[in-house]
Amino acid sequence: MDKLVFATNNDNKLKEVQALIPQHIKLLSLKDIGCFEDIPETQNTIEGNARQKAEYIKTHYGYDCFADDTGLEVDTLNGAPGVYSARYAGAQRSAEDNMNKLLEALHDKDNRNARFKTVIALHLNNKLHTFTGICKGSITETKHGKNGFGYDPIFRPENYKETFAEMDLSLKNRIGHRGKAIKQLVDFLNR
Ligand code: IMP
Repeated sequence: MDKLVFATNNDNKLKEVQALIPQHIKLLSLKDIGCFEDIPETQNTIEGNARQKAEYIKTHYGYDCFADDTGLEVDTLNGAPGVYSARYAGAQRSAEDNMNKLLEALHDKDNRNARFKTVIALHLNNKLHTFTGICKGSITETKHGKNGFGYDPIFRPENYKETFAEMDLSLKNRIGHRGKAIKQLVDFLNR
């Protein structure tokens, strides 16, 4: 294997992973392989969507591929918004609307425990491997901080006083869900 697709168009994510894996593996983005359509994400689990994306690229473009999918699981909401995190408050996929809806859903709740979960599915040599990164924490009562994206201003990781949105990106990457899943993928590719 010398070429591997990362099912993303985020150049930062691509560069970050490229720097960590063996040099003979060239990472390609969706743009690099001419994939401009929306890849279906119709499964009802985070794992299912990651697998669906990786399998779609293998089937339609022939490349080995990995894809990631992330969700925020809140204990007292039985794991919601979970796989629906991006569109929790509607199809407009607004981070502000999503956070406001979640704060409203938790306004009378004492248990505010939650976790981010990233699953990376790797389709390699006709085998599927999955890597899961989890970051435990809790949902704050109001928004704090300007960094990051999505639910970062209302997620405070366990053992920290700040929300993700108040942290440097390097710290978030080190303790966060996506960083942990990527580390497992990188260890696997370097084995
Ligand atoms: P995706 O699978 O990476 O596209 O993530 C799905 C949704 O989960 C995003 O649209 C965000 O709402 C949320 N999300 C994913 N990762 C993070 C994160 O690191 N911080 C905050 N929200 C996130």
